[in-house]
Order: sequence, then structure tokens, then C-alpha cells
Amino acid sequence: MAKKIIVGNWKMNPKSAREANDISEKIFRGARKLKNISAVICPPAPFISLIKGVLGAQDVFYEKDGAYTGGISAEMLKSLSVRYVIVGHSERRSAGDTNDIVNKKLKVVLNAKMAPILCVGELTRDHHGQYFHFVRDQIRQALKNVSKNIVHKIILAYEPLWAIGKNAKGVLPGEEALHMNIFIRKVIADIAGATTAKKIKVLYGGSVDAKNAKKFISAGKMDGLLVGRESLNPKNFLEIIKNADAV
Ligand code: 13P
Repeated sequence: MAKKIIVGNWKMNPKSAREANDISEKIFRGARKLKNISAVICPPAPFISLIKGVLGAQDVFYEKDGAYTGGISAEMLKSLSVRYVIVGHSERRSAGDTNDIVNKKLKVVLNAKMAPILCVGELTRDHHGQYFHFVRDQIRQALKNVSKNIVHKIILAYEPLWAIGKNAKGVLPGEEALHMNIFIRKVIADIAGATTAKKIKVLYGGSVDAKNAKKFISAGKMDGLLVGRESLNPKNFLEIIKNADAV
């Protein structure tokens, strides 16, 4: 059985390098013992080179090099042994990342031989299922001109905006996670074929905690989780990992 990927997206936390070290050490020490899980931490960029473990980045800039103050290239991340890069997170999208920018970022990550974690998800739900169209459009645009034979390297993360963060409006029911999982694979099948659609990993993110983690993996048939707040608390994050391992 393929390992489940449990990704901690630390966002703009914690406050210091020392805390980042401390939290990550506890997490990786605890996660090492579990056979069915691959734990990944996406720390803020300044902490990446300090952390020993499987690393992801929270964002990337799409140019190769040059006069782009503040920019971080895919090659730079690769040189720090980063394996995963989140692209299209809703918090980056609301800071200005359009579908076109997400597409460019996705391509530089693939070119640098890292795995993009492509975040998609609707802002709100409606009764007519328009949100499915919205998600399909996000995926199609992000994958524009990506060669079909490398689409399987992309990890999809379904993160409905209304379910993210401490002001979340609700928690996604397990069967709805399954519906979206199936739908995402159908969209991928249309783009890159049925074999890729079967192979691709789909994660769920949005208010994941130790209590609901199992539901997304078992009822939602997710290949892993993208965890925000709870990934900063080693005890809680390890509990999520253990619960996912036990499914
Ligand atoms: P929370 O788990 O804090 O809701 O954040 C989810 C998220 O945005 C992960 O990328």
C-alpha cells in the first residue's frame, strides 16, 4: 500500500528558529516509527535549511533567477533538498496569485523535479454544484501545457476555503470529501487519462484535527492530509499522523 502523506503547512509560524527546530524534531522523531505515513513539514522559507526531515516549501517564484527582490526560485529550494512545494494555496491566491501564475509556478516545480502540491477549492458552496465547476476550472488552468506524462507527479490538495482556519464555517463531511476526491480524479482522467487519474494523490486540507483525520482518509479515501494550525503542535500533529496510520 502506498504511504499516506501528512503535510504540515506552518504558514507564517512559529516566531523563532529555535521553536521551528524544537517542533520539527518532535514531529519527525514521533513520525519515524510509523510505517504507512510520510510526514512532511512546510516551514516558512527562512527555517527550511535548519530543519532535518522531509521538507516542503509553502510557495515559489516562477522565474529562474535575476532582479526579483524577495523571490525564491525552484532551484534554490531544490538545493536545500526540498521535495514538495505548495502552489496555489488559497492564502497566496488571495494575495494575488491568479490561475495563470499558479500554472507557471507548477511548471517550475515540476522542471526542478520536485512534487507540486496543487491546492484547489471553492470559496463557498452552492446548491447547484457550481463549486465543482470552479474546482475543475482551477485544475484545468493550473495544468495548462503540462505534459500528460508528468501529471502523475502532481499532488492535488482539496482545500475548501470555507473550511480553512479558525474562522471556518464548518467541517467537510466524509462523504463529501469522497465526492470531491472522485470528481478531481475524473477531471485528471479527462486531462491525462485514467491511469494517471488512478495514480495521482489527492489530499484533504481544512481544519484537520486528531478527531476528524481518520474520516477523511477512510470515508473520503484521501491519500493524505494538508494540516494548518494543528501541525504546529507536535502532540496534536502526531496524533493526526497516528490516526491516519491506523486506517
Ligand atoms: P487549517 O488546518 O488551520 O484550517 O489550515 C488548513 C490549510 O490551509 C493548510 O494548508
